[in-house]
Amino acid sequence: MANIKFYSGEEVPLEMHKVRIVQKLNLPPIERRLKALDEAGNNTFLLKNSDIYLDMLTDSGVNAMSDKQLASMMEADDSYAGSTTFTKLENKIRDLFGTEYFLPVHQGRAAENVLARVFVRPGSVVPMNYHFTTSKAHIVVNGGAVEELITDEGLAVTSANPFKGDMDIAKLEACIARHGAENIAFVRIETGTNLIGGQPHSLENMRQVRKVCDRHGVMLVLDASLLADNLYFIKTREDACKGMSVREITRQIADLAHIIYFSARKLGCARGGGICTKSHDYFMKMRELVTLYEGFLTYGGMSVREMEAITVGLEETMDEDMISQGPQFIKFMVDELHRKGVPVITPPGGLGCHLDALRFISHVPQTEYPAGALASALFLVSGVRGMERGSVSEQRDDEGAEVYSNMELLRLAVPRRVFTLSQLKYAVDRIVWLYENRDLIGGLRFVEEPKMLRFFFGKLVSTSDWQQKLLAKFRADLGDSL
Ligand code: F0G
Repeated sequence: MANIKFYSGEEVPLEMHKVRIVQKLNLPPIERRLKALDEAGNNTFLLKNSDIYLDMLTDSGVNAMSDKQLASMMEADDSYAGSTTFTKLENKIRDLFGTEYFLPVHQGRAAENVLARVFVRPGSVVPMNYHFTTSKAHIVVNGGAVEELITDEGLAVTSANPFKGDMDIAKLEACIARHGAENIAFVRIETGTNLIGGQPHSLENMRQVRKVCDRHGVMLVLDASLLADNLYFIKTREDACKGMSVREITRQIADLAHIIYFSARKLGCARGGGICTKSHDYFMKMRELVTLYEGFLTYGGMSVREMEAITVGLEETMDEDMISQGPQFIKFMVDELHRKGVPVITPPGGLGCHLDALRFISHVPQTEYPAGALASALFLVSGVRGMERGSVSEQRDDEGAEVYSNMELLRLAVPRRVFTLSQLKYAVDRIVWLYENRDLIGGLRFVEEPKMLRFFFGKLVSTSDWQQKLLAKFRADLGDSL
């Protein structure tokens, strides 16, 4: 967020860090990429990193760490119980969130397991702005149901609304009235709403949600995994917050939630997770399950080195330069693609750049998984690995019928401080080429389809020889380029 103007007038996201450790990358030729896709069943989760040039699958556990994080890992205090490292992390969380109690877990979904087991009963409902795959799966496994109450605008693929992650307050009131407050396990707000394009919610919206929760005596749970991006957007887009420090915004958000949980693979740029609360009662209810599933209360499945890194990473999240890097790089990519007519989610959000597969390849019906097909096509022509965020990421209903997702997105995550601008330009170049050749892209069908979380290990094949045709066109246009 450093205010640096280019004399040329060009808008360039300028890095406020330098790179001191590098990893060599490899870009195998397109013929090998086609074989790799075949071996991976057209599922980008099943690709091997050695076949990938830019890994834009996720930002989870792959953000760059700072020198201070790495240094902190060397002085970790390794003990099963009562580790000084844990106390440091607990104190940092108290300092930032004002929450007295902290339960460590090995990653975000472990927190979701504990929460769902303690608070969700058969028949209970969890209203939320939008679901995340693992959060929904844990609620459903425990007999609950999810209701998504995102504002209508949130599902508009292109929009100028700065807070598409907001919950619709009238829908929340109606949902509680329909089910009765006693059947609401908790209300969940996901900060930086993942599956609809990393879109933020406003601080004001969260205040209104909390008011409704208070009126009905319902608990408010915040999934803070993508808090860093959301803090940046509140600071830059919400007029009432522009004069507030990131620290103040963090505290105000935290004060509105009864329970906060997070994946430290995202928040804090390390690996691990946690559950935070001011309530002794909630803490006691969840504590036993942490020892049962995660580990003792002073590590919860995390290594002490990671806990040191999270402590430093959380503090670094209060630095505007640090939290602006991701959103600014994403904005660069979204703006470039938008200018060239490629359908992308707007406004730019956090986490990554999201291509709208329904418009990109409007000739591929949802029955043939357009977002999955686009993920496969982009990897083929570029070596860029994205993640399908569409119907493949849903699961069939109890009768076995497909549940088609509201959006068919190809997410191109931009892990923080990892890629250079020229690498993003390469990705943009190949996406534009693909868009101009989109008529060649066809669909996919499952040949191996797991019942739960099928997007992780399901295998698909192309519905025709469209991949070979795309390869031939690539060679015709780009010659012997990798
Ligand atoms: N909540 C949100 C909003 C997430 O984005 C994730 C993970 C989780 C919970 C679960 O955390 O992976 O540590 O168990 N998102 C990753 C992604 C997987 O690629 O977006 P976890």
